[in-house]
Amino acid sequence: MLMPASRRSCGPVFSFIFFGGLFLLLFIEPKDILPGTLSVEIHRPFEEIHTPKPYNDTKLALLIENRVQPHLTPLLLHFMAVVPPEWPFMFMGSNESIAHINKSAPIREYERNGKLTMKLLPENMTVGSQEELSKTMTNAWFYSQLLPAEWLFIFQTDSIICANSNVTLNDWIEKDYSWVGASWGENTKYGGNGGFSLRRISHLLRVLSHQNRQDHEALEDWWLTDRLGHMPDAKMANGTEEVAFSVEKVPYETPLGYHTGWGGKLLMAPVWKEKSQRDQIFEYCPEIKILMPLVLNREAEECEDKDISASFPR
Ligand SMILES: *[C@@H]1O[C@H](CO)[C@@H](O)[C@H](O)[C@H]1NC(C)=O
Ligand SMILES: *[C@@H]1O[C@H](CO)[C@@H](O)[C@H](O)[C@H]1NC(C)=O
Ligand SMILES: *[C@@H]1O[C@H](CO)[C@@H](O)[C@H](O)[C@H]1NC(C)=O
Ligand SMILES: *[C@@H]1O[C@H](CO)[C@@H](O)[C@H](O)[C@H]1NC(C)=O
Ligand SMILES: *[C@@H]1O[C@H](CO)[C@@H](O)[C@H](O)[C@H]1NC(C)=O
Ligand SMILES: *[C@@H]1O[C@H](CO)[C@@H](O)[C@H](O)[C@H]1NC(C)=O
Repeated sequence: MLMPASRRSCGPVFSFIFFGGLFLLLFIEPKDILPGTLSVEIHRPFEEIHTPKPYNDTKLALLIENRVQPHLTPLLLHFMAVVPPEWPFMFMGSNESIAHINKSAPIREYERNGKLTMKLLPENMTVGSQEELSKTMTNAWFYSQLLPAEWLFIFQTDSIICANSNVTLNDWIEKDYSWVGASWGENTKYGGNGGFSLRRISHLLRVLSHQNRQDHEALEDWWLTDRLGHMPDAKMANGTEEVAFSVEKVPYETPLGYHTGWGGKLLMAPVWKEKSQRDQIFEYCPEIKILMPLVLNREAEECEDKDISASFPR
């Protein structure tokens, strides 16, 4: 089919513009045609300019564990998968627990690419008992070591985030709380268990700048939230709001995670006593079994016809 004459005659005009433009682009530097333009040589590699920094250092997920435990590595890797990807992780432990997790190839890979830092607990920071842990966690120096982090997520080896949860830790950051932990009761005004908690470091440092915990005062989570709760511009989650964050003793069907006690051996009756409740938990959050040697051992030890609910604390 013939092209109309008017269209055909445009060909040379278009190629003039096209090749002329190409010539300008290739051979003439912008500073030659645009007054005031500087040409700058760029030394940074392409990837660095075009990929955002992968980790957000205002966030930090922290696990402190001195003991070697069989589920330590799988638990840590699970948290690294379900906490949003921009969160850097820190593991603080003993020579033994660090050497233990570093046997894992995926852990070494995460250390290499900067997602995970492994640190020896400083000699003057001990975590061997509740009292020692409380001393460490109410020490301003401890938190200042973690700066520039502002959002500190602390989890212990008897807690879990459920992969089936329809929210993430970032949804809880958006609520802007100074502290949210595992609820102590639906009617509590503020405060929750620190073994699975999201804390704002600047707010804690403000409390700790003018208050010192004396030995054997209340445990760290109680002590800190009691003071945060009285600080005028702190924002505290109450016990009803916290059940959606972490379940320990107040039942809730679809929390972000669970906190147990004593390495998964202490299960609170209101949450765990009824078989129907346990079935619901194991269906919603099957990965919680990773931290429950008690349930699995008893299931395995006792024969099929015995109801394992007999072995749960009341
Ligand atoms: C890091 O996270 C904080 C808190 O969500 C957010 O305000 C900030 O914009 C993030 N920074 C970057 C570089 O994405
Ligand atoms: C851990 O190992 C390092 C290097 O091997 C050693 O210098 C240090 O004393 C050890 N620390 C503890 C607490 O065992
Ligand atoms: C973990 O193992 C790798 C490879 O052996 C080593 O380079 C790295 O320093 C170890 N990390 C720690 C924290 O010990
Ligand atoms: C540990 O030692 C550092 C300096 O080495 C000190 O600043 C800090 O206060 C000490 N922490 C505790 C808990 O004593
Ligand atoms: C998540 O699930 C809860 C409880 O089932 C529901 O109330 C909430 O609307 C859901 N949130 C989203 C973001 O889907
Ligand atoms: C907790 O906060 C929610 C939402 O702000 C409120 O509806 C509820 O009454 C509060 N509960 C308690 C025990 O303060």
